[in-house]
Amino acid sequence: MKKLLQKLLAFLFIGSLLGIFLLQKFRPWQPEKKDPEKEWLKRQNDRKDQLYVICQNENLSSSEWKLKDRVARQLFVVQRLRLIYCEVPKVGCSNWKRILLLLTLNLDRDPSEIDQNEIHRTGFLKRLSSYPSEQQMELLDNYTKVMFTRHPLERLVSAYRDKLLHNEPYYGIILTNEIKALLRKNINSTKEVTFQEFVQYVVTRKPKDLDIHWKPMFALCDPCNIHYDILGKYETLAQDAKQVLKRIGAPESLHYPNTKMYSSEKRTNKNITWEYLRELSWNHIGKLKEIYRMDFSLFNYSFNFRNETLPLRFNHTK
Ligand SMILES: *[C@@H]1O[C@H](CO)[C@@H](O)[C@H](O)[C@H]1NC(C)=O
Ligand SMILES: *[C@@H]1O[C@H](CO)[C@@H](O)[C@H](O)[C@H]1NC(C)=O
Ligand SMILES: *[C@@H]1O[C@H](CO)[C@@H](O)[C@H](O)[C@H]1NC(C)=O
Ligand SMILES: *[C@@H]1O[C@H](CO)[C@@H](O)[C@H](O)[C@H]1NC(C)=O
Ligand SMILES: *[C@@H]1O[C@H](CO)[C@@H](O)[C@H](O)[C@H]1NC(C)=O
Ligand SMILES: *[C@@H]1O[C@H](CO)[C@@H](O)[C@H](O)[C@H]1NC(C)=O
Repeated sequence: MKKLLQKLLAFLFIGSLLGIFLLQKFRPWQPEKKDPEKEWLKRQNDRKDQLYVICQNENLSSSEWKLKDRVARQLFVVQRLRLIYCEVPKVGCSNWKRILLLLTLNLDRDPSEIDQNEIHRTGFLKRLSSYPSEQQMELLDNYTKVMFTRHPLERLVSAYRDKLLHNEPYYGIILTNEIKALLRKNINSTKEVTFQEFVQYVVTRKPKDLDIHWKPMFALCDPCNIHYDILGKYETLAQDAKQVLKRIGAPESLHYPNTKMYSSEKRTNKNITWEYLRELSWNHIGKLKEIYRMDFSLFNYSFNFRNETLPLRFNHTK
């Protein structure tokens, strides 16, 4: 009798498991509608989670943290919309500054009409460093904070192409001559600084002396201690910019522009980046990997380019 009861119970148990399984499997399937907003939020949370974990593991978050002045100088404040934007050069920052200027002045204009040279000189954009220090923390606590990142090596190539290959007074002339003086026997040589020479120069600087156009992004914006509400990426710029504008309550007519400084040249993409990187030696690649190690891991960038892991196909002889 007891055995029979046991069998019956076992039967019922297995039967109900089977029932649940079948119900799950053949439930009239509602194709889940992809909600772009939800997907965007999920991606944001993934980015923040990853950042948080690495910050902890690397001891980059500090309980006794104080805002450094050089970081406060990277942060632009738009009081009207309670926005703080961290400037990372070579990650679409000129276009962000165009937007910030229009938001600050409450102007309904097309951002692409604003001149490139004006945007970096205008006195209308306020840096967090220009506020009294007590107020800096209060603004950081209360405002929407945004930073954008880009693949570290694509950013480096972009900096080289825009800064070293044009006759800008500082980068194109002074820095160019400095690099030539350091690395060339014939100082008079007029040949432009090559990407290898540029990298040779970059990897021999002290990290703290790196120019902001190629200084690691995490060192510019301190994302382990400043809790950015939005972690945008150049790689998903269109969606991320749209969400930033929406979330801060920017006018609907305002769109992130597509302006480029040297508009006749192609934007630095993966393909172009690869063409430059493949000229580098193992040694330089390894050093770059070390310099940008935190940017790679905090912001989840990989060393895979054009489906190839970078150092594997390298020309060893150079
Ligand atoms: C990291 O990047 C990979 C490849 O782009 C992506 O599949 C993954 O979801 C990302 N992880 C996070 C936490 O963002
Ligand atoms: C972080 O700090 C902990 C404890 O102070 C230490 O055990 C750990 O090795 C540190 N990690 C790194 C990456 O420095
Ligand atoms: C801003 O943050 C401070 C804490 O730093 C808080 O006391 C204050 O109430 C906040 N102000 C607003 C307007 O939310
Ligand atoms: C570089 O140019 C200067 C002045 O034109 C000249 O005196 C010097 O000999 C040149 N040096 C080399 C290495 O060609
Ligand atoms: C990538 O670069 C190579 C060599 O410069 C070129 O032949 C190719 O068309 C490029 N591909 C894309 C998608 O731009
Ligand atoms: C990488 O691989 C995927 C699929 O294997 C392919 O669709 C894509 O075009 C590749 N990208 C490049 C840059 O070669």
